[in-house]
Amino acid sequence: MALWGGRFSQGPADSVAALSRSVDFDWRLAPYDVRVNLAHLDQLESNGIVGVDVAAAIRTGLQQLGKEIASGDFSYNDADEDVHSAIERGLIAKVGTVGGSIRAGRSRNDLVVTDFKLYLIDHLLEVAGLVAALIDAITAQADLHKETIAPGFTHLQHAQPILFGHELAKHAHALLRDLDRIGDWLERNSISPFGAGALAGSGIQPFPEVTAEELGFTGVNGNSIDAVSDRDFAAEALFVLAMIGIHLSRIGEEFTLWSTSEFGWAVIDDAFSTGSSIMPQKKNPDIAELARGKSGRLIGNLTSLLVVLKGLPFAYNRDLQEDKEPIFDSIETLFVLLPAVIGMMETTKFMPVAIEAGVLDGHSLATEVADFLARRGVPFSQAHEAAGACVRLCEEKSLQLHELSDVDFASVHPLLSSDVRAQLTALGAINSRNSIPGTSLSSVINQIAELVSENNQSKRWIENERKSFTSMMKL
Ligand code: ARG
Repeated sequence: MALWGGRFSQGPADSVAALSRSVDFDWRLAPYDVRVNLAHLDQLESNGIVGVDVAAAIRTGLQQLGKEIASGDFSYNDADEDVHSAIERGLIAKVGTVGGSIRAGRSRNDLVVTDFKLYLIDHLLEVAGLVAALIDAITAQADLHKETIAPGFTHLQHAQPILFGHELAKHAHALLRDLDRIGDWLERNSISPFGAGALAGSGIQPFPEVTAEELGFTGVNGNSIDAVSDRDFAAEALFVLAMIGIHLSRIGEEFTLWSTSEFGWAVIDDAFSTGSSIMPQKKNPDIAELARGKSGRLIGNLTSLLVVLKGLPFAYNRDLQEDKEPIFDSIETLFVLLPAVIGMMETTKFMPVAIEAGVLDGHSLATEVADFLARRGVPFSQAHEAAGACVRLCEEKSLQLHELSDVDFASVHPLLSSDVRAQLTALGAINSRNSIPGTSLSSVINQIAELVSENNQSKRWIENERKSFTSMMKL
């Protein structure tokens, strides 16, 4: 059903209808559209635009329609242009032509952006719940491996010994920032564009703040032109979703690498691996690779909306219809990706013996030699030189640092006494780094406890927000 036509001598050409049509994707907004219409109806009734009886009929019609949409009994047809026209068609079919009264005092321009914001609030909260579950899986593995010694890498080269729990837990820190960003998004963007009308506000909808409150928003947008033009919230959401994708891609890259036979650090569970159609022996880390690969489309979706918005005149332009598919795609991508990554994280077996094996490779305790001298007052530049000279000696003699003789040490620097050897163990190096972010066992235990408590706090606010959103959505 078209929502316009009076001034046209004929309907749109088939090619135009096909280009214009958005209902195939914006049908996802249907539950929110019904809810916004109900809130709008309350105002139409209290402002006397719609009489009590008509309002009651429309209310019942919308409520029934909402239930039929949820059950799948009502959906769009080939002639519907967008979600708004499909719902108005459904309403009129139920209550007769008076159903058309719902359109007074609002425009699709403010309606669509209100629906879209509600969709985003709902779905970002669901993404947040999945991210919190992934954080739980990571902290559980980090706790299990908090005492496993591992080589730490920079430039993918052996750098310094660390605890493997520390290595795993870093991902939880990154993902907690994503939760923080979602919380921040909600706080900034929970203002209602409804009541902006086409662009100038609405004489028939004089109290948008009341509708906003009914819909759970914390306030109304202060400028109707901005209200119908603003898609910052969508771009911000796409950034948040892309950043989650990037974090997942970095997890994916590590799991791919760690599960190679060269590393042998991680055995990905059979349920989270795939086989090869030709090589019967293969077990491939496809989930990890998809986690890495899917970030491409998440970043692309953000880019695509930013390009649509650049240089766009204010108020509504049809270009803005292009805001939805990137969001739907990013949300739906994460809905399939996150549960698989959570499962992979929960079920992967890490192999402490293999992880620990290479910890002293690459003379990873050389910094300990330099720190030993620095503690004895040697300027670090000289201490660094001396430690480097020790490494050179080791390479010449094919030894590890702790295997150098007292004479070797003394030949490099007079202050390199034999007690330097006491510092030259992986665990000694690890436990000397006992600052808040450090890799010592006591630091890592505190870090994990902190992560668990922050994530529990996140889970509580997500749960509360979801509860109030669900109760607002009740018809
Ligand atoms: N389907 C449109 C969109 O998603 C709804 C708004 C249409 N407004 C208009 N003035 N044509 O943006």
